[in-house]
Amino acid sequence: MRIVCIGGGPAGLYFALLMKKLNPAHEIAVVERNRPYDTFGWGVVFSDATMDNMREWDPVTAEAIQVAFNHWDDIELHFKDHTIRSGGHGFVGIGRKKMLNILQARCEELGVELVFDRDVESDSEFPDADLIIASDGINSRIRNKYAEVFKPDIVTRPNRYIWLGTNQLFDAFTFLFEKTEHGWFQAHVYKFDDTTTTFIVECPEHVWLAHGLDKAGQEQSIEFCQKLFGKYLDGHRLMTNARHLRGSAWLNFQRVKCEQWHHDNGRSHVVLMGDAVHTAHFAIGSGTKLALEDAIELTRLFRDEGDTPEHIPAVLERYQAARNIDVLRLQNAAWNAMEWFEVCGARYCDTLEPEQFMYSMLTRSQRISHENLRLRDATWLEGYERWFANNAGLPVKAGEAPPPMFTPFTLRGLTLANRVVVSPMAMYSADDGSANDFHLVHFGARALGGAGLLYTEMTCVSPDARITPGCAGMYKPEHVNAWKRVVDFVHANSGAKMGIQLGHAGRKGATKLAWEGIDEPLEAGGWPLMSASPLPYLPHSQVPREMTRDDMERVRDDFVRATKMAFEAGFDILELHCAHGYLLSSFLSPLTNRRRDDYGGGHENRVRFPLEVFRAMRAAWPSNRPMSVRLSCHDWFPGGNTADDAVAFARLFRDAGADLIDCSSGQVWKGDRPVYGRMYQTPFADRIRNEAGIPTVAVGALYEADHANSIIAAGRADLCAIARPHLADPAWTLHEAAKIGFDDVAWPKQYLSARSQYETNLRREGGAPDK
Ligand SMILES: Cc1cc2nc3c(=O)[nH]c(=O)nc-3n(C[C@H](O)[C@H](O)[C@H](O)COP(=O)(O)OP(=O)(O)OC[C@H]3O[C@@H](n4cnc5c(N)ncnc54)[C@H](O)[C@@H]3O)c2cc1C
Ligand SMILES: Cc1cc2nc3c(=O)[nH]c(=O)nc-3n(C[C@H](O)[C@H](O)[C@H](O)COP(=O)(O)O)c2cc1C
Repeated sequence: MRIVCIGGGPAGLYFALLMKKLNPAHEIAVVERNRPYDTFGWGVVFSDATMDNMREWDPVTAEAIQVAFNHWDDIELHFKDHTIRSGGHGFVGIGRKKMLNILQARCEELGVELVFDRDVESDSEFPDADLIIASDGINSRIRNKYAEVFKPDIVTRPNRYIWLGTNQLFDAFTFLFEKTEHGWFQAHVYKFDDTTTTFIVECPEHVWLAHGLDKAGQEQSIEFCQKLFGKYLDGHRLMTNARHLRGSAWLNFQRVKCEQWHHDNGRSHVVLMGDAVHTAHFAIGSGTKLALEDAIELTRLFRDEGDTPEHIPAVLERYQAARNIDVLRLQNAAWNAMEWFEVCGARYCDTLEPEQFMYSMLTRSQRISHENLRLRDATWLEGYERWFANNAGLPVKAGEAPPPMFTPFTLRGLTLANRVVVSPMAMYSADDGSANDFHLVHFGARALGGAGLLYTEMTCVSPDARITPGCAGMYKPEHVNAWKRVVDFVHANSGAKMGIQLGHAGRKGATKLAWEGIDEPLEAGGWPLMSASPLPYLPHSQVPREMTRDDMERVRDDFVRATKMAFEAGFDILELHCAHGYLLSSFLSPLTNRRRDDYGGGHENRVRFPLEVFRAMRAAWPSNRPMSVRLSCHDWFPGGNTADDAVAFARLFRDAGADLIDCSSGQVWKGDRPVYGRMYQTPFADRIRNEAGIPTVAVGALYEADHANSIIAAGRADLCAIARPHLADPAWTLHEAAKIGFDDVAWPKQYLSARSQYETNLRREGGAPDK
């Protein structure tokens, strides 16, 4: 085959040498616009796993790289006069020039033609090529030429960064954080040969502008960074090798992905590779890895399918299918890590203590969890667990700290024994609003199962506030005793506390029991509905009436009456349900609130009635007992609320005396499109906790102790609510404790004889660590 690689970066060079090695009969050229030693950038890092992969495909290159690279295990943070270091992270670093020179030398040795100093305008310059590799980097001209075919999706990110180097040496992958009068800067620092270190400085756009760096030339920018990070440089200078860039050399990262990776231009097959088709932010340092792995995969497919021109179309199809999945996975992790660095100044730098800041930074990609950190550096993690426990009011010695989810948590006069919450879940099994034997057994079992806090299902404040005829209520005198029986059992037989979630169904009321048709209107026996605006939930649902001021006063008083009854029943905490499209939520969302009076329009107006209800309840609820508010933090529908709105609402509830925001999302508008996934609502709890400054509950697709520990340890939330896993397993907390080998959690004395058998069996099956 005749192959031309346009662009001699890692992708083009590595593919060229692998294909030449596979079959020396291929005619292969790499055409590069720069000269051999003229390259932008300093060192790159990739993981040990990438090296293993390269070793398998070309031991000669791998060996040369192995000799030239720097290996290190530690990550070190310098933050607010603290230095924190943790090990076991396993990276290799190599100078970009060095690596390209190794690849160039190997290409020449194998007989690849290297053409330098030639700026390719178009793929049509190579009419005789069977295969053209567009490995021309992030600004790929070839990709842009066929943009209609490749359909690139390019997102420019808000942070500014400059890629510098220095001869000051650092013996760990180092992160430096410095605050100026305008905001935070961070530096990502890693040594890549015996004399040189990569030094990338990054900050948000507004901080960059406030310092006038948009008007600064390279020298002035370097001076600025040198002064800012001077105490770490020990007199060494920062240097640039990007003098060919016009302007300031501060860049914005661009995330690139493409719908289509290859194209038949009529004479040759053109295929994108490396940064031309996908980029990954340097926050997880994997762009070079992706480029090299693209080259490996395409070579593998030619080897397996046949390396003659007639095989090209099928090979390229497979190449795209195979690589797309890996790339998307890595791009997701890189995205999380990149966002962390974008928001850390506004969200974490001024709120988290250095210890927790380090934990948050290490887990920024969401790929590294609590137990992964234990595998990497158990000593550091135990030290952190101890710090966390001490901060949570548990004075423990080193090595004796519980995992974060098993630390206590206090709000006003309430202390929870651990951070696990049974999330509110409607059971549709009440008799005329009364909790009954089902509720006693249901909550009793979950209290015995180890959770620190149990919330009732949405308990309705009047008969017409119910979702279904089976919903529990708190509006008749007998409801108090019915709930008191449950609460008393929980208090008498477990360490769990009991919360009640009070709500009003609004436009989603008068529907069938879930298992008879969720959200479907009752055929008989329904009741009139009201909502912020007269909009039916389903096209065939009842049209609610728009609430009048009289309605509001009646509903507010119903909530207050239910609050007083909840106190009589002995509940420890009270939650106001302002989520999921029910009555109060219908005021908050612009999708369901179309009012033109004081209760519709901007945030302050939309939240006015929910806040009025909240304040009246707060006044009726003892001041030593906390109150939480459940919000739909995202409507997942165009024109609806997003996390920005949720932060604004959380601040207003906080100011009105709320102690905790329970961060759910969706169910406000039929046809919403949530982006589901593991821990998918946790980013809302994280933002609200750290931006609005109020404790939060994370909920949604959390199903392992490792999720809860990672979230709580990183300060992304204070509590974790677990819903469906608690339906499957009432003793979820006890079982998860056993799975992570934590035995300092109390089993009910009546069940103690089962404990050691359960734990032993788990260990035998490999489901728990050995003691
Ligand atoms: C600040 C920063 C830090 C980074 N850190 C890391 C890291 O630590 N680890 C890591 O793995 N990755 C890192 N990367 C990313 C990494 O540099 C790229 O992902 C990687 O180089 C991609 O390889 P490539 O071959 O696809 O593209 P490139 O390396 O960009 O190579 C493309 C080549 O094509 C040439 N070219 C472009 N257009 C033409 C043309 N028209 N004619 C001829 N030649 C052309 C260019 O001159 C260039 O040599 C970092 C990137 C940045 C910006
Ligand atoms: C059967 C069932 C009933 C639910 N009822 C309520 C409810 O009454 N109030 C509420 O706020 N959320 C309710 N939810 C939502 C859960 O509290 C929780 O937010 C959601 O299920 C996501 O958590 P999970 O992934 O752990 O299940 C219910 C969920 C389920 C599965």
